[in-house]
Amino acid sequence: METSVDYIEKAVNPNKLPKQAAERAEPYVKGKVLIAGSDCYACHAVDRDVNGPSFQAVASKYRNNNDFAVATVYRKIIYGGSGNWGQRSMSAHPNIREEDAIEMARWILALGDPPKPKQTLPLSGEYLLSAEKGAYLLQASYRDRGKNTLPPLPAEAVLVLRPALFQADQCDERSRGVGNYKPFDNDTTTLNELKHNAWFAINQVDLQGITSLTLRLGSGDYRNTYCGGRLEIHSGKPGGPILASLDIPAVNEKRMRFREVQILIPGNLPAGYSDLYFLFKNEVNQGQGVTGVDWVRFNIGMRNEG
Ligand code: HEC
Repeated sequence: METSVDYIEKAVNPNKLPKQAAERAEPYVKGKVLIAGSDCYACHAVDRDVNGPSFQAVASKYRNNNDFAVATVYRKIIYGGSGNWGQRSMSAHPNIREEDAIEMARWILALGDPPKPKQTLPLSGEYLLSAEKGAYLLQASYRDRGKNTLPPLPAEAVLVLRPALFQADQCDERSRGVGNYKPFDNDTTTLNELKHNAWFAINQVDLQGITSLTLRLGSGDYRNTYCGGRLEIHSGKPGGPILASLDIPAVNEKRMRFREVQILIPGNLPAGYSDLYFLFKNEVNQGQGVTGVDWVRFNIGMRNEG
């Protein structure tokens, strides 16, 4: 049994994680997740050539040359280019940060490495989750001893832990037309164009112990006005069971002004993970956004009985 914890600064959609049972806790799982979230698999596969070489072929080519290899490979990921594998050219990825490209390179280059003892966490214990954004990946893998003619079975679980405060523009899904808006002279990004029946979603949330949500809403401004309406939180899909709702007055100012509102979460919800849909409504004015949303925070607290 092995366990590991990785921190990843980008929002991770737990629904999009590659699912496979690994024999051992995989080294550099962070690179694997970053690759799954980028466009790499449009041209690459792990075990066969597509447009670019298979990642296993890359790993064996650089097998005995690791530090140099990490540098070559991570630069290729950022700057693109051709010549190492033929005439075809790899596209540049100027938006991938250097440290993320290095994680990707490390995961690719470790493919097929003979398993080596890895520093893992104790099987039980405490780990301080101190980041305020991004996500933690908790990985556990296990291999049984097999029985008679049965080979050992590997099993793996990856748990994504996300912070309680969730930037709305990093939501996992949004309906068509919902955009990002940066108000003038402010460096926040809010969700915008949340018109009648528009929604954004946060996947795989367990609401056990969550008593309320706080939303930071942005007012309209001189470039962009909002009509107010209603917010409904649905579980499973936009038309799924409604968990809570809140009326949102129309607020418009010269400059975007922020306010925090609270939605109480009922205590009798079924246990387990579900996708949460934040659905906006204004039957009367369907052409205008209801409000801007900066972030959503999940609040743990005591329930006030009676
Ligand atoms: C548009 C197609 C395309 C995309 C998208 C793409 N690649 Fe490539 N990749 C290629 C091609 C073609 C090559 C071979 C380039 C060469 O011959 O030097 C390559 C080469 C590589 C190599 C080998 C580098 C070397 O110099 O030996 C690695 C590693 C790699 N790609 C990783 C990635 C990762 C990670 C991503 C996603 C961030 C990605 N690629 C996205 C086409 C692509």
